[in-house]
Amino acid sequence: APSDPDLVARAAAAKAKLGSRVFVLGHHYQRDEVIQFADVTGDSFKLAREAAARPDAEYIVFCGVHFMAESADILTTDAQRVILPDLAAGCSMADMAVLGQVEAAWDTLTELGIAGETVPVTYMNSSADIKGFVGRNDGVVCTSSNAKRALDWAFEQGSKVLFLPDQHLGRNTAVLEMGLSLDDCVLYDPHKPGGGLTAGQLRAAKMILWRGHCSVHGRFTLESVNDVRERVPGVNVLVHPECRHEVVTAADYVGSTEYIIKTVEAAPAGSAWALGTELNLVRRLALAHPDKQIMFLDKAVCYCSTMNRIDLPHLVWTLEELVAGRVPNQITVDADTAHHARVALDQMLALPG
Ligand code: 13P
Ligand code: SF4
Repeated sequence: APSDPDLVARAAAAKAKLGSRVFVLGHHYQRDEVIQFADVTGDSFKLAREAAARPDAEYIVFCGVHFMAESADILTTDAQRVILPDLAAGCSMADMAVLGQVEAAWDTLTELGIAGETVPVTYMNSSADIKGFVGRNDGVVCTSSNAKRALDWAFEQGSKVLFLPDQHLGRNTAVLEMGLSLDDCVLYDPHKPGGGLTAGQLRAAKMILWRGHCSVHGRFTLESVNDVRERVPGVNVLVHPECRHEVVTAADYVGSTEYIIKTVEAAPAGSAWALGTELNLVRRLALAHPDKQIMFLDKAVCYCSTMNRIDLPHLVWTLEELVAGRVPNQITVDADTAHHARVALDQMLALPG
C-alpha cells in the first residue's frame, strides 16, 4: 500500500530538523515506506561497517532487527545512541541460540577434551551475548558475505568449528565452498542432552552446526525450485545461503543479499530470475528492473515478520521523539559483553579479502 502522505511529511520534517545529528540505516528487508528515509541501505555486514563509519551522528536509527542494533551499539562510540524503532523487532534465528545453551554445549566439548581445538564462529544474526561468548573463546563473527573467509580463518586456528546459530549457512559454506562433506558436519540440538550427539560423533565432526534456522529462508523447498523451473523455462534460481542445503544445491547462484542485488542488476534485459530471499527485497528489485522478469521463489507470500514491524508510524514516532529531546528505544549492550563481542567483530572486520 502507498505510504500515508501525512506520515511521509512528518517523517521528512522531523528528519530535516535533526539534520546530520541523525543517521538512518535500512536493511534490505525493510518495507519501502521505511527504506525511503534510509540514509544508507545494506545487508547486515555493510550496515555494521556504515554504523562504525559515522562517529559524528549522535543518533543511529537502525531500521532492521535487534541483533543488528546491538552490533551497531558495539561498533559506535560511547556518545552515540543506537535506536530500534520497535523493540519487538527481534529475529527468530538469533533467538534460537541462548547464552546458557551455548555455554552448556561448550562444557560438553570441554568434558570431552575437544574445546581447545574448537573455534566458535557465530553468524552476525545472533545476540550480543553470543558474540561476547565467541570473542571470549577466540572465535569470530561472520556474515553471509564473508562466511567462507571466516571459516578459512577458523580452520587455521583449530581443527573443528562450532557454528552458531544458522545450521544452513554453516553447512552450505562448509560443503559447497570449502570442500567438506556432509559427513564432516553434525547437528547439535540445544534442546537435547549433549546436543543429541554421541561423544564419538562430536569427536569425529569438523563442523558442529547449531540447530538454528531462518524462518523466512528456511521455508523454500526443493519443490519450490523444481516448480519454478517447470513454470519458467530458462529461469535463473538465485538464493540466500540461509536456505536449506538441498535448495542451495539445486539453485544456480547463491549469495548474501548484497550479492543477490548485484547479480540482478548485472543481469541482461529479458532474463528471468527466481529469488529465494525476503519478499520486500524481491518486490523492490522487480519494480526497479521492469526489463527483467524477477519473481519470488515460492508461491506463498512470505515477509520477515519481525523486519516488517518497523513501519512508517514507528519511524515517525522515533524521529519526532528525538526532535522533542527524548531518546526512545535505545539499544545498549553492557560494557563487558560489548568488549568481548567487539573482539569477535573486529576479527571479522580484519579478515583478509
Ligand atoms: P544478510 O543481511 O547478511 O544477507 O542476512 C540476511 C538476513 O537474514 C538478515 O536478517
Ligand atoms: Fe532473522 Fe530470517 Fe528475519 Fe533475517 S530474515 S531477521 S535471519 S528471521
